[in-house]
Amino acid sequence: MKKANKLLVMAAAMALAACTLTACGGGSKGDTLTFGTNAEFPPFEYIASDGVVGEFNGIDMAIAKQIADENGMAIAVENMEFDSLLIALQNGQIDAVIAGMTATDERRETVDFSTPYYTATQVMIVREDSDIATAADMADKKICVVQGYTGEVCVQDMGYSYEAFKKGTEAVMELTNGKCDVVVIDSATAQKYVSDNEGLKIVEDPSAFESEEYAIAVQKGNTELLDKINKTIEKMLADGTINELAVKYTEEATAE
Ligand code: ARG
Repeated sequence: MKKANKLLVMAAAMALAACTLTACGGGSKGDTLTFGTNAEFPPFEYIASDGVVGEFNGIDMAIAKQIADENGMAIAVENMEFDSLLIALQNGQIDAVIAGMTATDERRETVDFSTPYYTATQVMIVREDSDIATAADMADKKICVVQGYTGEVCVQDMGYSYEAFKKGTEAVMELTNGKCDVVVIDSATAQKYVSDNEGLKIVEDPSAFESEEYAIAVQKGNTELLDKINKTIEKMLADGTINELAVKYTEEATAE
């Protein structure tokens, strides 16, 4: 090997070593806490120019940052499709999932959940002139949901046929275009979509949609991380921080 080439190889090897030591790209396990999310879910997570963690903003991102901060760890956020989050967690690609994720019994079979930090429910978004007043009224309507969300499971359980989209914004576009009649999605996110788009309203039916609790997911049996997460969440619940964050990011997400 020529000398110049040898030098190049050495430099590359050193750069690689430096990378693994200092966590280039947010990698080094131990002092970086890597959260997976799907930043398509305002006010919990969305992309913003000046987010609380890089380009990521929202209630969940502020909670994740505080968990990392209180444990003296750096934070990294990996944005991926909602459907991929629990698989990435099981693979060890990420340490935890924070994504407005409802702690369901089905999900509990594969992961462990933190203390819940937010209570939500599914609602129906319809056009203002819609005659849909209850969940039962969806029977003969064209229903849109987001793939893998609990809203999809609800509509499935009711026995209705539906169309599933990758993103909430896509489902809402179908609704504003008149191609579907109702979108079933989580309450706080629904509010954001209704304030962003003219001519839409929210219809609630608490007797048809049970309340849901958002929690952070970790690998099954990772009690060490779960304890750290729970400590911060319980503190943020007790001192009102999570309430404040909910108000703040609902306003910000709506203003954007
Ligand atoms: N709460 C619903 C669920 O758990 C929707 C969550 C969607 N979150 C997201 N970051 N896209 O299925």
